Amino acid sequence: MTALVAYYSRKGRTEKVAHAIAENLGAELVRITPPGQVNLAIGVMEAMMVMKSAIKSCRTDLTGIDTLVIVTPVWAGKIPPFVSMYLYQVSPGEGKKFAVFTERGRHGSDHPIRLVRHVLEGKGMNFVASGVTIESDVDSGEYLSLVRKFTREVLGQ
Ligand SMILES: Cc1cc2nc3c(=O)[nH]c(=O)nc-3n(C[C@H](O)[C@H](O)[C@H](O)COP(=O)(O)O)c2cc1C
Repeated sequence: MTALVAYYSRKGRTEKVAHAIAENLGAELVRITPPGQVNLAIGVMEAMMVMKSAIKSCRTDLTGIDTLVIVTPVWAGKIPPFVSMYLYQVSPGEGKKFAVFTERGRHGSDHPIRLVRHVLEGKGMNFVASGVTIESDVDSGEYLSLVRKFTREVLGQ
């Protein structure tokens, strides 16, 4: 399997999760990066409204990739606008697989996962797995077993 793991992280927890997923899958890792300082008040409003916000140029071309894994923090019960922009830019999606992993403050609705599914399924991609960690999982190291379970599902094992 040739996988691409794309993530956004502000404080580093989602980054830790994304690194572990990429290592387990032997996948290329792409960091989604805003072009400048993030204004959190604006970012939260954009997240609430499921808006897109500019990102630096990064790999969005899925040629040669069969599985895309999106790893995202939850913002305002949704996803950061930088992740929305990445989802908008990524192509070609038709017939490829994808999986979604969310890192969040506390457990809550699966709305962020459904948002990602909505965009990527709209590009003809096929959902294979989802996973969730909360901050305390990352801080305690428990996230590693949750990541292993997720990557087994991604690999269809
Ligand atoms: C602007 C903002 C909004 C957030 N909104 C939520 C939320 O609605 N639900 C939740 O469970 N966590 C929320 N969180 C917590 C983050 O998802 C959590 O801290 C996550 O670990 C951040 O990942 P990072 O360390 O990679 O930036 C929010 C954090 C930020 C900064």
